Amino acid sequence: MNVVVENSPVQETAIPDIAAGLNQLVADSYGLMAQLHLAHWNIEGADFFPLHEAFQGQYEEMFEAIDDIAERVRALDHYAAGGLKALAKMSTIEEGPSEAPCPAKDFVSSLIVGHEKCLETAFSTRILAAKNGDAETEDLLIGRIKSHQKALWMLNAYLK
Ligand SMILES: [Fe+2]
Repeated sequence: MNVVVENSPVQETAIPDIAAGLNQLVADSYGLMAQLHLAHWNIEGADFFPLHEAFQGQYEEMFEAIDDIAERVRALDHYAAGGLKALAKMSTIEEGPSEAPCPAKDFVSSLIVGHEKCLETAFSTRILAAKNGDAETEDLLIGRIKSHQKALWMLNAYLK
C-alpha cells in the first residue's frame, strides 16, 4: 500500500492522475520560470529597475515552489518530471521574445499568460486532489494558486 494512503482518506486509484497533474505543474512552472529569467535579463527602458527586480522575485519564489511540487510527486510514490528537454516538451508555456528588442509591456503581457496557465493547471489538480481526499496536495496547490494570483494582480496593475 502507498504510504500516503495508509490511515488517510486518499483514494489510491486517483494518485496517478494527481501525480500527473503535479508533474504538469512542474513543467509549466519551469517554463514560466525560464520566461521570467528571460524578461529579467532582456527588459529595457524606463521601467528597467523595478521590473528587473520584480521578475527576479517571481522566479526565485517559483524555483523553491517547483522543488516542493516535485517532492510531493515523490511523496505520492511517483517519479518527478525533470530535464530541460522533457519539461519543454510537456510545458504549455509559450516562449517569449529572446533576440529582438521587446517593449516592457509585451514582456509583462506574456508573463500574465504564463501565470494564468500555471494557475489553470494548479486549479484543476487542486480540484482532483480535493475530490479524492488528498488534503496535503490541496494545501500545497492552494499556496501555488495564491502566489500566481498575487503575481497576476501585480502584473495586471502595471499594465493599467
Ligand atoms: Fe539577475
